[in-house]
Amino acid sequence: MQHPFILVIFGATGDLTYHKLIPALFSLFKMNQLPKNFYIVGFARRDISDTDFAAMFDNQSSDPKWTEFSEHLSYHCGEFHDKNAYIKLVEKLKGFKKQEDTQLSHIFYLATPPQYYDTILGFLYDCKKDLSQEVEIHEKLAKLVIEKPFGKDLETAKLLDKKLSDFFAEWQVFRVDHYLGKETVQNMLVFRFANSIFEPIWNSEYIDHVQITLAEEKGITNRGKFFDGVGILRDVGQNHLLQLLAAVAMEQPGSFSKEGVRDARFKVISELDCIDPSKVEEVVVRGQYNGYLYEKDVDKNSKTETFVAMKVMLKSERFSGVPFYIRAGKKLAKELVTISVVFRQTCHVLFKEIGCPEEGNVLTFKIQPNEGIGIHTIVKKPGSVLSLGTVDLKFSYNDAFGTQGLDAYQKILMDIFTGDQMLFNRSDELESSWQFITNILEGWEKCGKMPIIYEEGSWGPKEAVDLIEKDGRHWIE
Ligand code: BG6
Repeated sequence: MQHPFILVIFGATGDLTYHKLIPALFSLFKMNQLPKNFYIVGFARRDISDTDFAAMFDNQSSDPKWTEFSEHLSYHCGEFHDKNAYIKLVEKLKGFKKQEDTQLSHIFYLATPPQYYDTILGFLYDCKKDLSQEVEIHEKLAKLVIEKPFGKDLETAKLLDKKLSDFFAEWQVFRVDHYLGKETVQNMLVFRFANSIFEPIWNSEYIDHVQITLAEEKGITNRGKFFDGVGILRDVGQNHLLQLLAAVAMEQPGSFSKEGVRDARFKVISELDCIDPSKVEEVVVRGQYNGYLYEKDVDKNSKTETFVAMKVMLKSERFSGVPFYIRAGKKLAKELVTISVVFRQTCHVLFKEIGCPEEGNVLTFKIQPNEGIGIHTIVKKPGSVLSLGTVDLKFSYNDAFGTQGLDAYQKILMDIFTGDQMLFNRSDELESSWQFITNILEGWEKCGKMPIIYEEGSWGPKEAVDLIEKDGRHWIE
């Protein structure tokens, strides 16, 4: 059972609150994972009542338990740049406090578009005195949760971090990358390091290359206002893709502890071989889907990319010379999030005459859809004549355990409540990832070209295929 809390969600009428936060909180409530006493305060600009706010969640409200849960919801109307709104918020928090005979922890969740972070943090800082009358007593219980993208580049990420550290200590800050909360991503650590058979071959001697794909069928939906100022590289590249890379390439953590795991993630991200801005065009492909410019709230001359593919190298001994091909895009051929570790093909040493399948061993972590793991293996086809074929050995969470496990947001909210930061970004790993990404952004800025247009339902620009094929490899779909 968690400690009683007040959760203030800034940006409570936005997509994230509607699609992820409230559904995850409601599920935890139904699973009896929330304390008896908790308050969820939605903070946003729209002038609506508590009842209107609760009624917004029409994706949940048909559930018989909803009425009981919605009694914990309230709404606070205010502009993010209006100091009075924060003063009134403090009054509201004090009101909750009076109803309780126990201490309440305070969690401030920034679920707004990133352009408001500075303003909100500034006011939280300015109002520190007012707030501290209330929060001071619970200083140890106050937490700040901040969503990605954390900054726009290395410099702004550093400034934001500085601002955060003015108000909160590092142990109070939860920088969210929900991919870290996904079951398969968490499992990678266990799978790689608890099974003795993988570590000895997890290096450049056995691994030919690694592929990471984060493909989405949908476009930017109604998120034009957010997405057009951000682009796919900042939206999912700087965070989700690099975290998947970290999970597959990290060294064994010194201990299975918050800092042990975060140290290992930081190390591998700091080993990314930064691409020289003048060479970006050679190893990074940037695309935009046909029709993007006609999406709601998108600039008609926008150069924002909705697709990116790149070849990344690590400066680590273990992966010396092993390319990581990574790509992400909107409006692609299918919904697919996978990591494929492609092993060197050695079958021809013995079976050259008979003919070997083109593909050798591939270990695939399937993150979406149907989380699980597959191993592509070479076998003898049945029959009197020796001939080789391939089969996939598969593990799926659903088949093995009858469940996909906790949704990523359920997991990260639980960890916020208990104060476990293992699955949240530390400031040094963020800085390293921004260092890598900022070089690419600079390269794009310098070349000034439009992204390459690709068709909806494709796998992105043809140049993304060329990127891997010129190395004699191909994307696994
Ligand atoms: C979010 C991005 O962080 O991740 C979205 O802002 C993207 O653009 C989403 O669609 C993908 O997450 P998931 O969990 O649906 O794979």
